Amino acid sequence: MTVLPILRWPDHRLQSPCAPVAEITAEIGTLAADMLDTMYAAPGRGLAGPQVGALLRIFVMDTTWKDGPRSPRVCINPEILWRSETLVAGPEGCLSIPGITTEITRAAAIRLRWTGLDGVTRDEDLTGFDAICAQHEYDHLDGIVTFDRLPPLARAQAEAEYIA
Ligand code: NI
Repeated sequence: MTVLPILRWPDHRLQSPCAPVAEITAEIGTLAADMLDTMYAAPGRGLAGPQVGALLRIFVMDTTWKDGPRSPRVCINPEILWRSETLVAGPEGCLSIPGITTEITRAAAIRLRWTGLDGVTRDEDLTGFDAICAQHEYDHLDGIVTFDRLPPLARAQAEAEYIA
């Protein structure tokens, strides 16, 4: 079990677009396992590569473990194939912005394609918190954090609260 240090915003690595994973190697397997260990230890329900300094298109998520059995997903080179027109707003935290919760508006449902550690590419329709969590983690792969999703005034207030 390896718990990695989680980078904190505004570390520049959280603001950089990530490169695709070229090949699912043993190193990628180790990174994914360490990311899951780090996420569970945090404790959190999602963690993206750049949050541990790996500027690669990979994230892990488990939206059920706080209330029941674990259901870890390792999403490599994810793509959002479809977003519902229906939007939902809800509070979001981020392990890289500890102590801050912001109200973010996102698609209520998405279709996510990703490749797992087994090399199999899957399409899955996600709704509810699964959809929100996946969009949050996906944003990290493009160098986007919750602050970037806020209107200017709300962002200024949230940043001021964070720095304080
Ligand atoms: Ni985050």
